[in-house]
Amino acid sequence: MGKLSVNIADSSYDVHIRSDSYELFKTDYAKLLKSVDKIAIIADEHVASLHLSVLQNSLQSVECEIVVKTVPAGESCKTTNVYTDCLSFLLENGFTRDSLLIAFGGGACGDLTGFVAATFMRGIRYIHCPTSILAHDSAVGGKTAINMPEGKNMVGSFHQPIGVLFNENLFSTLPPREIRSGMAELIKHAFISDQKWTKALMSNTTFSKPSMEWLAPELLRGIQVKAKIVEADEYEKSVRKFLNFGHTFGHAVEAVCGFGGLSHGECVMIGMAYSLLLSESNGEVTSSLTNEFIQFSLANGYTYTPIHEHSFETFYSYMTLDKKASFGKINFVLLQEIGIPYIKEISREQLEKAFEQLQNRTGGTA
Ligand SMILES: NC(=O)c1ccc[n+]([C@@H]2O[C@H](COP(=O)([O-])OP(=O)(O)OC[C@H]3O[C@@H](n4cnc5c(N)ncnc54)[C@H](O)[C@@H]3O)[C@@H](O)[C@H]2O)c1
Ligand SMILES: [Zn+2]
Repeated sequence: MGKLSVNIADSSYDVHIRSDSYELFKTDYAKLLKSVDKIAIIADEHVASLHLSVLQNSLQSVECEIVVKTVPAGESCKTTNVYTDCLSFLLENGFTRDSLLIAFGGGACGDLTGFVAATFMRGIRYIHCPTSILAHDSAVGGKTAINMPEGKNMVGSFHQPIGVLFNENLFSTLPPREIRSGMAELIKHAFISDQKWTKALMSNTTFSKPSMEWLAPELLRGIQVKAKIVEADEYEKSVRKFLNFGHTFGHAVEAVCGFGGLSHGECVMIGMAYSLLLSESNGEVTSSLTNEFIQFSLANGYTYTPIHEHSFETFYSYMTLDKKASFGKINFVLLQEIGIPYIKEISREQLEKAFEQLQNRTGGTA
């Protein structure tokens, strides 16, 4: 149970993680809800089938009209079709610049809703009610996006929410794969910020089956890391890039697996092992740390199968497409040591060598 504030130049908002967070609609957020003319809950259809009534019950006393737009579950909602469908839905229902959106689902629904909010009538307000562990990363910081057939998150904008309300009870229905996905982003936050914390997570035997009491303060800690970075660099000109640790290769794995074979975090876990390998020759990251991380990830049910099933060339072509590859160069977030990230341009030869090493060190898992 907890709360923290994100303070960005033009927008400050609170992030709450508690079992009764939706009750805040009747207290802390009551004045805001009075000031809007209409509310649309944009809900992941799977999450809606499980939990929508919890959210609706806590909004019962709100006076304005509330409509619900369900969108396809997970990543399949981040399409141009679903996006325009949402815009039409808002227009047909008479939404205005004084209306409010509530995102109800995992990171995908949050990214879509944020982008709809960013662009509808040049920008309206929205609140995140995230339902996945991974969303401790995606719901904070204001990055919104949809996918294009050519690549993930290729169209989007920066648009901060006005509040983030996690109801930790809803995590109880997350499948193991989605728990692993969110936990990968948690250890990413640890890797880029804190040696002791990272080691503690790596020696936690219930890392991928966390108890909810243990999890909430850990997620707040992850959000704290992200919030601090976003406060310093909202538009990803400098330190915000560190949050992409594990993502350059992770996104390539995700694209090769067709946006859906593995979860986002599972792909990022492979990407972090790859980045640790690349870091070995440039600082204090040792092969024993990389091996420890690989063993830890395997013990927690993560897989390296994709790198044994596809060639380096396949991943390389996707890496060159990554948004972070500017002027044709592929930049990686590496670690000098745990807690000290930096950016380095990596040559094709180095990338290929590290790929082969990762295959060797994860051999037998295909
Ligand atoms: N904007 C950002 O800064 C940022 C950061 C990281 C990731 N992302 C994006 O977040 C997305 C991944 O988010 P995600 O991992 O939450 O996945 P997701 O939103 O795709 O959800 C994964 C699956 O879990 C289900 N689900 C969600 N909550 C549930 C619950 N409480 N119970 C049962 N099932 C539930 C969904 O229906 C879906 O099938 C990706 O699109 C990624 O690009 C964005
Ligand atoms: Zn991520």
